[in-house]
Amino acid sequence: MDYNKYMAEPYKIKMVEPIAVTTREQREAAIRRAGWNTFLLTTDDVYIDLLTDSGTNAMSDNQWAGLMLGDEAYSGSRNFRNLEATVRELYGFKYVVPTHQGRGAENILSQIMIKPGDYVPGNMYFTTTRAHQELNGATFRDIIIDEAHDPESEHPFKGNVDLDKLQALIDEVGAERIPYICVAVTVNLAGGQPVSMANLKAVYELAQKYNIKVMMDATRCVENACFIKHREPGYENKTIQEIIREMYTYADGCTMSGKKDGIVNIGGFLALNDEELYQKATSLVVVYEGMPSYGGMTGRDMEALARGIRESMDYNFIAHRLAQVQYLGDKLIEAGIPVVKPIGGHAVFLDARQFYPHIPQDEFPAQMLAAQLYLESGVRSMERGIISAGRDKSGNHYYPKLELVRLTIPRRVYTYAHLDVVAEAVKECYKNRNNVKGLRFVYEPPVLRFFTARFEPIE
Ligand code: F0G
Repeated sequence: MDYNKYMAEPYKIKMVEPIAVTTREQREAAIRRAGWNTFLLTTDDVYIDLLTDSGTNAMSDNQWAGLMLGDEAYSGSRNFRNLEATVRELYGFKYVVPTHQGRGAENILSQIMIKPGDYVPGNMYFTTTRAHQELNGATFRDIIIDEAHDPESEHPFKGNVDLDKLQALIDEVGAERIPYICVAVTVNLAGGQPVSMANLKAVYELAQKYNIKVMMDATRCVENACFIKHREPGYENKTIQEIIREMYTYADGCTMSGKKDGIVNIGGFLALNDEELYQKATSLVVVYEGMPSYGGMTGRDMEALARGIRESMDYNFIAHRLAQVQYLGDKLIEAGIPVVKPIGGHAVFLDARQFYPHIPQDEFPAQMLAAQLYLESGVRSMERGIISAGRDKSGNHYYPKLELVRLTIPRRVYTYAHLDVVAEAVKECYKNRNNVKGLRFVYEPPVLRFFTARFEPIE
């Protein structure tokens, strides 16, 4: 089967969805209507949509068949029982609380565990995760290794926790003010970078010593498992499922956005081992999401998610996904385009600081690069830099080291030919980079501003 350097699709196409082919003139009008924010473009404006890999997956025929078995009972749906049994079997947690998507689980976890004045350490922040921690009165502390903030570092596990940083925080604030450590596998904003098994184990051992819980952000855990298989000695002959099971022996629970490695369009859950925490979570899920047997999902959504989680354990599925992302990354590296290295699991990240060194960070180089790529080609990408990072409590911008544009590959949706188009468009933007200026805010919302902010070009 190994004829190609990049693994060919382990599936064939049964249904197609036409996409919009637009002119430059149409795109100029569209980006102005969208306030220079790619989040505000509509599908009819977009040719290849690399905004996100979240909820944009193509489901399998088996998942679509599962939709027909939706049991829409208000309580006790058999699809929930299947989802619960699947998570128990494949992830190994005892209790499952369904939620409408990942942030629903983050909301509940943050509310049941955080007291005002607490600290939550994490291996780099994620937008919604940190927002829920802060809304509940916690301060987030970044404990990822320094290499994660350096786009050039080729460290194979750039998502790793720096144990010294974790120890230093425990010494500084005391273990009783750290309700849990949040470990993301993989780390989205570091570039989709994995955490090694050895590091997960070491974090858990240190946490146990101080009676601190470890909660994983499981959103892209299958990508993480595949990187462990490819990169960590001793795991090359293990199955994805075996690796996932071992990863979760180093956690007390997890939040999951099924919209990524669950290969569905909506859904998520909170999984826990502690019965008392589970009781607290179920008493909140009824307030925010719905009955503990559906949590904001329909029966058919839960069936698709259960089946998606099982499919995600297939090595061919995940190896092909990583190969597609690597393919795009390699094309850009060959052309001398500055990207985050090594290439991560779900996306290729352009380094906007190096792309537009003449645009200061508070004139939003990554936001502008995403807009330019759209104008060039109809390819939609996403800013992951200063706009995503938001403002601190005193109203100043956070200035993240990484100022990136994310080209995110949905699962099972695009072909290698689409990725060729993306690579050519990025190269064209790179050629024209010196003529581009920055942006300023026209409208800035108070939280998670990147979703709905509007801009205009600085003349
Ligand atoms: N954790 C991580 C690491 C994520 O990437 C996301 C979502 C969430 C949690 C929240 O999950 O969207 O289901 O509520 N990331 C999307 C993205 C939005 O485009 O990266 P959700």
